[in-house]
Amino acid sequence: MKVLAVLYDGGKAAQEEPRLLGTVENKLGIESWLKELGHEFIVTSDKEGPNSVFQKEIVDTDVLITTPFHPGYMTAELFEKAKNLKLCLTAGVGSDHIDLAAANKKGIMVAEVSGSNVVSVAEHAVMSMLLLVRNFVPAHEQIQKGGWNVADVARGAFDLENKVIGTIGAGRIGQRILQRVTPFNPKELLYFDYAPLPEHAAHTINARRVEKLEDFVAQCDIVTVNCPLHDGTRGLINKELLKHFKKGAWIVNTARGAICDRHAIKEALASGQISGYAGDVWDVQPSAPDHPWRTMKNPLGGGNGMVPHYSGTTLDAQIRYAVGTKDILQRWLEGKDQEAQNVIVDHGEYATKSYGIHERK
Ligand code: NAI
Repeated sequence: MKVLAVLYDGGKAAQEEPRLLGTVENKLGIESWLKELGHEFIVTSDKEGPNSVFQKEIVDTDVLITTPFHPGYMTAELFEKAKNLKLCLTAGVGSDHIDLAAANKKGIMVAEVSGSNVVSVAEHAVMSMLLLVRNFVPAHEQIQKGGWNVADVARGAFDLENKVIGTIGAGRIGQRILQRVTPFNPKELLYFDYAPLPEHAAHTINARRVEKLEDFVAQCDIVTVNCPLHDGTRGLINKELLKHFKKGAWIVNTARGAICDRHAIKEALASGQISGYAGDVWDVQPSAPDHPWRTMKNPLGGGNGMVPHYSGTTLDAQIRYAVGTKDILQRWLEGKDQEAQNVIVDHGEYATKSYGIHERK
């Protein structure tokens, strides 16, 4: 059997730090295991264009392993070329880089390591809320440049306490964010999701559901985005919706970059319609050096909390998704059932409700 993995380059960091498991160098820690079982295992970061290792090797690959951090975009066209492909496995959470409709057409299973990095992302989202609301980045930059001007940074700084905080998507990550901000004494917690909070979460999280997206954003001081990217969420936060936001609101998006329109976000930040935008996800990854989100600013010169896609790939998370990847692969090799929570599509249909509402066949 041939297994192909598209991972990110670790370079010197991966040589020095073996716990960087999700890198080309450290190969999710599964190379010797797969080879001992007699399987071929190819690992690459080279993923763009028809001459890339990814696009050349996919033609006779049986199992494809990808990661959201350096996504090997598995398009409908590539599915047509991938004659032997049977399983697409996401080492992490979020399989939007796989054309799920095309996988369904071909009857190929797509699985991910559900839950593996949800705490890592929730912590990053809370940190991002704080750094935007407290105007941390410009304050830190000022100090590094040798400056000292309290008023300049204090004019853009607020408390998290008494703010209305809302999540678009109240699944594993959304719920964990709501739990984690509760001790900050927000004015209210809101959520927008086509599914109500499960009973166990509704007991512990005091959040009100708002059914209409425009009404939801109009009430929030901070909107955090925690839904998967699919046809129903691509470009969801666009020029039109941004008009309904509370003036000066903050947005934290650690879900997927393409849920937000890149130009509309930049313009809303520049005009002061929103005060800040932070996150680690970009509409195409790696992001181009001239992507507007790298340098966009609010009128006070702050409001940008963007980083590369790393919130879900802490060293703690890497152990969990590497172990989870091996478990999915082992079950598949031994013909055992997968854990239901890890299956995204199988036998030509969606096995989860998270990627939009689809009629079952
Ligand atoms: P989940 O499946 O537990 O929850 C997703 C929630 O979004 C579900 O409650 C679903 O009903 C809701 N949803 C789907 N479409 C919606 C829509 N149109 N409007 C409102 N709600 C909608 O997923 P989980 O584990 O919470 O992860 C969410 C997403 O976060 C992933 O799909 C991935 O894109 C992203 N993520 C990012 C990471 C990072 O490193 N930045 C790491 C892990 C996940």
